[in-house]
Amino acid sequence: MGFVVAIDGPAASGKGTIAVRLGRALGLPVLDTGLLYRAVGVLVLRAGRDPDDEVAALAAANTIDSAILEDLDLRTDAAAEAASRIAVHVSVRKALLAYQRAFAAREPGAILDGRDIGSVVAPRAAAKLFVTASAEARARRRWAELAARGDKVSYEETLVDIRRRDDRDQGRAAAPMSVAADAVLLDTTDLSIDRAFDAARRIVEAARARWEQSRTA
Ligand code: C5P
Repeated sequence: MGFVVAIDGPAASGKGTIAVRLGRALGLPVLDTGLLYRAVGVLVLRAGRDPDDEVAALAAANTIDSAILEDLDLRTDAAAEAASRIAVHVSVRKALLAYQRAFAAREPGAILDGRDIGSVVAPRAAAKLFVTASAEARARRRWAELAARGDKVSYEETLVDIRRRDDRDQGRAAAPMSVAADAVLLDTTDLSIDRAFDAARRIVEAARARWEQSRTA
């Protein structure tokens, strides 16, 4: 197995940006696993079905391939909301597991970000990070992002959305978002994205040195 980096955390914590920058710095491919869940959510909505309907969501999950991950509709808040609803279905999570594990098995390694990477998808990852920030800081970031895109949503509404998604992701029975016992916690509430990335890079480089040592030992 190559050098696998598992990055988990809630929405707008900075984990996605950190994953992409780490990928560039380490020369490793990056999988944003949230896109898989968003794709299933969007396909269910397009089929005119309800994301709470497990049968409809599983049928959509079985058609997922890498092409759909490029779809622009996946970036919307409607996609995020549908994603967190289909993500509670055990059969759907199972259907998406093979794709994620195959990605993690690539040589010379891979970076995956999501909610359950360190706990379920890649429990043996050599580096595990849990990136978080206060709900208010995350709502401010998301709101600034939406405002820059011309979206007229209010900060208060954004905070409510973030909290609802946190509650659903933490409270579900199947693979709830959690901090793996061997993950390093990185709180980005008071950090710029550059500082957060620097901190993440140091943690991952230390893990890489340990991983290389254990292979040659
Ligand atoms: O990370 P992102 O906001 O794109 O994820 C959308 C939703 O997909 C999350 O709120 C969560 O419900 C679900 N998800 C998950 N497990 C992952 C990645 C995302 O349950 N590994």
